[in-house]
Amino acid sequence: MNSVLVSAPSNIALIKYMGKIEGSGNKPTNGSLSYTLENLKTFVRLTAIEGAQDQWKALVREDLEPLNLSEKGQQRFLKHLQTLKDKWGIQKSFLVESANNFPSDCGLASSASSFAALTLAAAEMFQAMNPQPWGTDKKTLSELSRQGSGSSCRSLFSPWVLWQHEYAEPMGLEMKDMHHIVVVVEDSKKEVSSSEAHKLVTTSPKFVGRPERAEIRLKDLVHALRFNDWHMARQIVWDEFIDMHRLFETSTPAFSYMTDGSKAVLEDCQKFWNRWQDGPLVTMDAGANVHMLFRNDQKKSFAEYREHFAKSFKVLAFEGVKSDVH
Ligand code: PMV
Repeated sequence: MNSVLVSAPSNIALIKYMGKIEGSGNKPTNGSLSYTLENLKTFVRLTAIEGAQDQWKALVREDLEPLNLSEKGQQRFLKHLQTLKDKWGIQKSFLVESANNFPSDCGLASSASSFAALTLAAAEMFQAMNPQPWGTDKKTLSELSRQGSGSSCRSLFSPWVLWQHEYAEPMGLEMKDMHHIVVVVEDSKKEVSSSEAHKLVTTSPKFVGRPERAEIRLKDLVHALRFNDWHMARQIVWDEFIDMHRLFETSTPAFSYMTDGSKAVLEDCQKFWNRWQDGPLVTMDAGANVHMLFRNDQKKSFAEYREHFAKSFKVLAFEGVKSDVH
């Protein structure tokens, strides 16, 4: 096998991974829960090459968005490849090509899908070269992916995923085929990367008790989702991203991803919810954009939210298996 092409999806956390145990290879200070975004994908092609050094370049394909990885980003990616080569005892050099099927200027982080795709591509290639007993075990691959980027360990499973310690696991909830909107209020590169945010939040006085607060919410959210208590789930998910953003704002130095645009979108979401007593799960990552997840039976409100926000912002809307960008 000279070349493999593999894709992996992104995911959005509803209980956030924010804060890691130092020197642990991205082990989190609290468990997290995510929904896998099947339509937002990174593609990675791995090709064996002659020469002493691994290389990265953008994967060029008509249906994919050209990716522009910084020098630092490329090095981080190739370092993960080296970790995977060491794990399988592979000596050869490789060309890694990658690209996303979603625009890179829309403020959506792609580290989860990229690192998951690289891990899966390497596993397929290396397993053929030097088979290992654990080589196709999803939990082991999730654990390996975590070492490249924490949140990527959740992208190995679908749709609802729990990550508590070394690796992530699927949750087996009945609710499937959620609809997903991203209201893009900011599409420039963020000033504080999530790697830096993980370090900075530990300086916040609010980080005391943060792992405990997140663990309680995690337990409550699992319960709410299992029992279809959408009202409760929505409140927990809201409190959770606000808690994470408060950590950012009280760190030393303090920083914030919330813009006036984010605040306006959140205010509208509150108004809609109060009017209908129903609506999406709303969350924000380490960025200014607002993510919303709708149940399948909320198709009408999905369309209404989408139309409403599209008047002022770019809205990415992902319905079922088909995806389209507005
Ligand atoms: O995997 P990282 O290091 O990019 O961290 C991701 C952090 C958040 O996206 C803010 C939260 C999460 O759980 O995905």
